[in-house]
Amino acid sequence: MRIPTEKLNEVSQANNIVDVISQYIPVKKKGKTFVALCPFHPDKNPSLHISQEKQVFFCFGCKKGGNVFRFVQDYEKISFNEAVLKLAERVGIKIAFKKGDVDISNEISKLYEINKIAAKYFYNNLLNIKGSEKDFLNEYFKVRKIKKNTIVKFGLGYASRGWNNLSSYFLDNTDFTIEDLRLAGLVKINEKGSFYDTFRGRLIFPIFNENDKVVGFGARKLFEDDEIEGKYINTQETKIYQKRQILYGLNFAKDSIRAKDFVLIVEGYFDLISLSQAGINNVVATSGTALTLEQLKLLSRYTQNIILNFDSDIAGVKASKAGIQLILETGMNLNIITLPENQDPDSFINIYGKDEFEKLINKKVSFIDFVSSVYKKENKLNTAEEKTEFIKEIISFIVRIPDKIKRAFYIKEISTKYGLYESDLRDELEKSMKTYRKETSTKSASSFINTNKKLNKESEIQKVESDLIELFIHGTPEAVEYLVYNVELDFIENEIVYNIICKFLDEYTNEGKIDVAKITNDLDDEKAIQLISEKSVPRYDLSEYDDFDRHTLIFSVTKKNIDYLKAAKDLIKKFKIVKIRKEIEELKKKGNHNGILQKQKEIKEIQKSED
Ligand code: UTP
Ligand code: MN
Repeated sequence: MRIPTEKLNEVSQANNIVDVISQYIPVKKKGKTFVALCPFHPDKNPSLHISQEKQVFFCFGCKKGGNVFRFVQDYEKISFNEAVLKLAERVGIKIAFKKGDVDISNEISKLYEINKIAAKYFYNNLLNIKGSEKDFLNEYFKVRKIKKNTIVKFGLGYASRGWNNLSSYFLDNTDFTIEDLRLAGLVKINEKGSFYDTFRGRLIFPIFNENDKVVGFGARKLFEDDEIEGKYINTQETKIYQKRQILYGLNFAKDSIRAKDFVLIVEGYFDLISLSQAGINNVVATSGTALTLEQLKLLSRYTQNIILNFDSDIAGVKASKAGIQLILETGMNLNIITLPENQDPDSFINIYGKDEFEKLINKKVSFIDFVSSVYKKENKLNTAEEKTEFIKEIISFIVRIPDKIKRAFYIKEISTKYGLYESDLRDELEKSMKTYRKETSTKSASSFINTNKKLNKESEIQKVESDLIELFIHGTPEAVEYLVYNVELDFIENEIVYNIICKFLDEYTNEGKIDVAKITNDLDDEKAIQLISEKSVPRYDLSEYDDFDRHTLIFSVTKKNIDYLKAAKDLIKKFKIVKIRKEIEELKKKGNHNGILQKQKEIKEIQKSED
């Protein structure tokens, strides 16, 4: 039996940890903290500390820590579920398997709730519509070969024609206001101040985040006489829908991407759902925006292997080239497939079927062959000048690859393929590298991506790392938001810290805040729970810490007016500097003095910068 997380949170919120522990052992208040003799090891001075604010305990002697469930579980030597049931009973909560009331206390959870209700509305509308609209939709799905199962799986919906269908539904059935709907991008307000639904007469694709929550919608025009707006329109950017950060279909595809160890990137909603309907599931769609680094970062958690499949028209090729460059910069592995003229994956799979599409996948080519096929198609690979231009373009791609050995392989490949001296190619590469390095900023794409990085469970947790956890736990909303947008996972070396920060980021994205007692409910790693508890619990009074620097002081907040935002900014700077210092160590080994000077300059610049 797994108790739903909402229920766990409800129970832990209702059971004040200080009260609960006080029922078992004597607890004393000491400043902001509560302390007790630890029941889990022989203890002379009270080393068990409890934070009322964060609702966790931690023993500085035996290092046991966690939220209220863990205390009861360990004290009574019962299972986790038994502890939950016991505490539920204590406050009169029934553990039934129905969802508790929804939390709409902050903007983010409100946006999720609105999107969920809207998605259900569109979906039910599609299934329940009657009369001529029903016939029209049936015909549309028939022509496009979309089956009922697919509609259900992707939660497709229908926005009827008319100005206020969705908004009336919300006003009649929920407490949300027109302003709420406007913030969610579902209604617009005209110059006269009256409102109307954003999506009218359209097929609706709910867009999910990685955790299966609806964050926005894509909507395709269904009636050709609707001329004003484009074929597809999307929800505007909101706090939960940031186009750079979302890949359509990733929530459905992630298991398959992991299993197959590659991902296919396509352009359109229909491309993705038709492939999925045919049984090809390791697919994501960019949905009309250029591929971003953030999207690649999402993908890098599941695979390092990418197959691009963009349209073969001119715009498609342009889009592919930009995508190719970005992917190469991240160090991920890239191949490309092209479809016959005027086909997209949706039309191709519906005409030729899965087997033929898989043959295409098997015929994937490197970016070198892809670019060369573009030159050939344009008939631009005849004269020496044309060929030179082609080779130079290829080299301008190769420079972006961070791995030296990989670059060498590609150089070898073009040397063999085009009968050129490797040494000439290497000279050209060298030249190109110099300009490329000058042009690009210090922040390389590869550092952004989590490429099988060596994380170390045993490595000592660096001070910056533990400070980061503390700031996430104790920081003001502005400080936490700053961290969310500026921390790079690449900063972190310790595996436990890495997992904790990922969890924090996840939690922030979904809930808009970080609730440690709640987070410990869904962490499995004992050490992670310990660490979070330790950082949540104030240990001593401030006076004992005078000669520590500000970051260490953060959790001992008896002192008021700590500028958390500034602390967050400083910490990010520190991370950057720590990282560059490590790079300097590497350069020292190689005796690269210019490189070292350059890096030292970077450090100075970071120290000087305002943010
Ligand atoms: P396409 O024009 O290739 O459309 O745009 P499509 O996917 O083949 O759509 P169907 O088959 O005609 O229905 C590819 C993607 O670009 C985005 C959409 O996400 C679309 O799926 N797009 C396209 C827009 O955002 N706006 C547009 O006006 C057109
Ligand atoms: Mn199409």
